[in-house]
Amino acid sequence: MAVATVSNPKHNIEAMRQAFYQRIANNDLAPLWTVMRAVVTKEPATRCQPHLWRYDDVKALVMEAGGLITAEEAERRVLILENPALHGEARITNTLFAGIQMIMPGEVAPVHRHTASAIRFVLDGEGAYTAVEGEQAFMSPGDFVITANWAPHDHGNPSDQPMLWLDVLDVPTVNFYQAGFAEHFDEAMQKTMRQDGDSLAFYGSGVLPDGAPAIKRTPVINYTYARTRPIVARMLAAGDIDRRHGARVRYANPFTGGPVLPTMSACLAMLPQGFAGEPYRSTDGTIFVCVEGEGTTEVDGRALDWRRNDVFVVPPWKRYAHKAQAQSVLFSISDRPAQEALGIWREGT
Ligand SMILES: [Fe+2]
Repeated sequence: MAVATVSNPKHNIEAMRQAFYQRIANNDLAPLWTVMRAVVTKEPATRCQPHLWRYDDVKALVMEAGGLITAEEAERRVLILENPALHGEARITNTLFAGIQMIMPGEVAPVHRHTASAIRFVLDGEGAYTAVEGEQAFMSPGDFVITANWAPHDHGNPSDQPMLWLDVLDVPTVNFYQAGFAEHFDEAMQKTMRQDGDSLAFYGSGVLPDGAPAIKRTPVINYTYARTRPIVARMLAAGDIDRRHGARVRYANPFTGGPVLPTMSACLAMLPQGFAGEPYRSTDGTIFVCVEGEGTTEVDGRALDWRRNDVFVVPPWKRYAHKAQAQSVLFSISDRPAQEALGIWREGT
């Protein structure tokens, strides 16, 4: 034994360390020094991959699901956009869930509420509604509808065509904190107490109902495309074009000017034809929807070619740059406000 120590002290100390690690594991302890570099990374480490979902393919499959299960049976008929590197985890980035929801003519998706907040970005159809807190918001393509934390909501489609939208929820974030609640109601639809468009008129017009208490999330239920698109078109015409993002607005909470939700923020950008954006990266993994036009986004050396209604995801801290072959509109959403609240958000080139 003594001979071995002298001839190979290095081997011996390694054996002693391994024995020690095994022993302390019985006390629910582990050495930090063996995992330090993996735990405290030099730069953001993500399993999330860049990926694009072609709308035509997704739509065909969601329509097929329409013949297999009703909205009522499913509660929500949604196909989850699963990041290819995160199959089975019901998420598109580490912090966000995304899915394509469809509601057929005559269907109702019954009222419920949950801790997770949801945004919907309308892709296809006309005349289905989302009811939130008593306002029945009828939706058109490009509309951005919000169901904030714990707000009761139901969907219905009195039109004669299917409606499809992108759902993005902060479910993985809420579940990370293990803070999620959900509740179902006896009735399928909530009572309507407001006119369609009331919340946008009351809160999104440069005035506020006098005495309304400021809240941490927007009171606007539907930021309509009819209102927002002309604003980015006007910015474009005025030459107010960010070299990375194009002519872009951020949807704002009218009380604070801050993000629409504490966990998620969204933007709408118009890119002129021929736009070649400068490279950009930030720590918020971002989901994009092509609302109009066509182009390519280079992400981490990969080209994602997009056209109308395609959805694509850029992982955290991966460098990307947009190119627009035609004048295009991109909607985007990310967890930036959550990171900013924690003081960890960063951007770079
Ligand atoms: Fe919901």
